[in-house]
Amino acid sequence: MPRTVLITGCSSGFGRLIARTFLDAGWNVVATMRSPEMETELKSNDRLLLAQLDVTDSDSIQRAFTKAREVFGQVDVVINNAGYGGSGLFEQFSPDDIHAMYETNVFGPMNVMREALPDMRAAGSGVIVNVTSMAGHLGLPGNSVYSSSKHALVGLTEAMAQEYAPLGVRIFNVAPGAYPTTGFDAAVDKRLNSGDAQLVAFSHKLRAQISAVGAQMANKGGALADPQEVADHVFACVTEDRPIHNPSGSDAEMLTEMAGQANRQGFIDQLSAMLVPAA
Ligand SMILES: NC(=O)c1ccc[n+]([C@@H]2O[C@H](COP(=O)([O-])OP(=O)(O)OC[C@H]3O[C@@H](n4cnc5c(N)ncnc54)[C@H](OP(=O)(O)O)[C@@H]3O)[C@@H](O)[C@H]2O)c1
Repeated sequence: MPRTVLITGCSSGFGRLIARTFLDAGWNVVATMRSPEMETELKSNDRLLLAQLDVTDSDSIQRAFTKAREVFGQVDVVINNAGYGGSGLFEQFSPDDIHAMYETNVFGPMNVMREALPDMRAAGSGVIVNVTSMAGHLGLPGNSVYSSSKHALVGLTEAMAQEYAPLGVRIFNVAPGAYPTTGFDAAVDKRLNSGDAQLVAFSHKLRAQISAVGAQMANKGGALADPQEVADHVFACVTEDRPIHNPSGSDAEMLTEMAGQANRQGFIDQLSAMLVPAA
């Protein structure tokens, strides 16, 4: 019998590719999105359930899981993909902007995991993959607010992976570098013209330098990499033996190594051995 995966943010980008990857591999897929009535590419069939889910709305999460359980019996795997970025210096984000980003990028995945985990614990098995960002492994200038939100999700994932391993639930982080998804491109540069003249001038200067370095990395295959790579990493976390942290893309791999995190799994294994008992 095929297993069932529920994915958030399937209206575009990585989410849509992740849904297709699991479908092609014969899984039951619950492809969730904020506005399924707008969806034209993914169509419900006996292995694909389109469901409305906004990660900031716990009722919608409960409804989507209830429907998934009715149709497919249980949810074996959850992919927390929904999220959004945004460039700008810290002061170019209002407190409301920051709260909104944390609601989606941090509290959203928490809301979804809170719904998924009790069944997974009861079954003694389950997999959760959180799509974070390389910006969650280093303080990325020009993206400080986004970077901080993804650090929160990376830290949560690393700690939860250790907490839930003895209970049979495997939890992973896939951390993409820069990929040309439509939604992600749209988020860039939105706020660079806000604030006083100094903020505007410096944020543009910083953005230009980051773009130039990004273009150099693209020549090595980084920024122009195929977004399907991220879907493949996510699928591999579910189906293969993977470490907790999985940078995706040559830029993410290079920066993770520069940040001295290439052997993070060795450290996590030592920490877990010291702190985490068998269930
Ligand atoms: N592309 C990159 O270079 C890159 C790099 C690192 C990390 N990431 C991460 O990868 C993930 C996917 O991004 P993407 O690049 O594929 O961008 P995308 O094409 O914009 O996809 C983002 C998805 O998240 C959904 N979403 C946003 N807020 C939501 C909410 N409150 N509830 C449910 N869904 C919501 C969007 O749905 P709507 O259509 O309803 O807005 C969309 O389906 C994000 O977590 C992002 O931070 C991307």
